[in-house]
Amino acid sequence: MSHLKTTVLITGCTTGGIGHALAKEFQRKGCMVFATTRNPATMQDLVDDPNFETLTLDVCNPDSIRAAKEEVAKRTGGGLHVLTISPAIDSDVEDVKSVFDLNFFSALRVTNAFVPLLMEAGRTSPAHIFSVGSVAGEAGTTYISAYGSAKAALKAWGNTLRVELAPFKYAFLSSFSLIVSHIVQIITGLVRNSKPAEFIKLRLAPDSVYKPIEDFSTKAFYEANDPNARMPVEDYAQIVVREALKPHPRAHLYAGKHSSVAWFATQFLPLGVMVCLSFYTRLHLAYLL
Ligand SMILES: NC(=O)c1ccc[n+]([C@@H]2O[C@H](COP(=O)([O-])OP(=O)(O)OC[C@H]3O[C@@H](n4cnc5c(N)ncnc54)[C@H](OP(=O)(O)O)[C@@H]3O)[C@@H](O)[C@H]2O)c1
Repeated sequence: MSHLKTTVLITGCTTGGIGHALAKEFQRKGCMVFATTRNPATMQDLVDDPNFETLTLDVCNPDSIRAAKEEVAKRTGGGLHVLTISPAIDSDVEDVKSVFDLNFFSALRVTNAFVPLLMEAGRTSPAHIFSVGSVAGEAGTTYISAYGSAKAALKAWGNTLRVELAPFKYAFLSSFSLIVSHIVQIITGLVRNSKPAEFIKLRLAPDSVYKPIEDFSTKAFYEANDPNARMPVEDYAQIVVREALKPHPRAHLYAGKHSSVAWFATQFLPLGVMVCLSFYTRLHLAYLL
C-alpha cells in the first residue's frame, strides 16, 4: 500500500443522491475517494473536480467490476479501506430477479472483487465494507416487497460475512496487523434526494389484486417523498462518514429520517402492529372488491 490517506470506493454516485453526498463528505474528511457510476456523465461535477478519482462501475456487470478493481489497485498501490455499495431500483413482481440483482447480488459481486484490496489495506489500518440498506428491509413495507426482501437479504448476508471474516482478523492480529473486520449495514430511513427517488416508483403487475387501488398507493408513496419529511442527504452523509472513519464502527447503523422508529418497531413491537397499520389499504380493498 503506497497511500497514506484512507482510500474509499463508493458505487452509485449520481449527483444529488446518497452515494454522491458520501463521496463529498469522505473527501472533505481528507480521504482519497473513488466515486463511481455506470455513466460518469451523471456525476459530471465530480469528474471535473481534481479532488476525486472517478471511474465507471456497473454493479451488475462483472467485467466492469473487474476493470474498476484493477484500476483502483493500480492507483492505490493495491489496497482499499472503505467500500460503500449503494444503488437501488424497484419495479413490479415480474422483475423481482432484476431487483435482487441490483440490490443484493451486486453487493456479492462487488465485495468478492474488492475484498483482496481491503485485506491489503487492512494490514496496516482498519478496513470496512459499508452496504446501504433500508428500513424497508426491516419491516414489511407494502408494495415494495421485492426491494424490501433484497435489502433484508443484504443485511443477513452482511451479518454472516462479518462472522466469516472474523477468523482472518484474529489470524492477522497475531502478526500485529488488522484485516477487513467490519461489515456495516446502514439501515437507511427517508433521505432527501435532489431527484425523485426512483426506487420507490411503483409498477404493479397487470393482474395484481392491488391494481384497483394503485392510484391511492402511489399517492401515498409520493407523499412520503415530500422533501420536508426526509433528512437532507448532507446530514445523512455526515452520520455515515463519521462512523466509517472509526476503527470499530457498529454492525448496524440507523441513519435517515424515521430510521430510529424502524429500529424501535422491529425491536419491541410485534409484527401484528404492522398489519394494523395497513388499515387504510384494507379499507380501500374491502370497498373495491
Ligand atoms: N433516499 C432514501 O430515502 C433511501 C431510503 C432507504 C434506502 N436508500 C438506499 O440508498 C441507496 C441510494 O439511494 P439514493 O436515494 O441515493 O438514490 P439514487 O440517487 O437513485 O442513487 C442510486 C444510484 O445507483 C446507481 N445505479 C443504478 N443501477 C446501477 C448499476 N447497475 N451499477 C452501478 N450503479 C447503479 C444510480 O445510477 P444512475 O443515475 O445511472 O441510475 C445512482 O447513482 C440505495 O441503496 C437505496 O436503497 C435510500
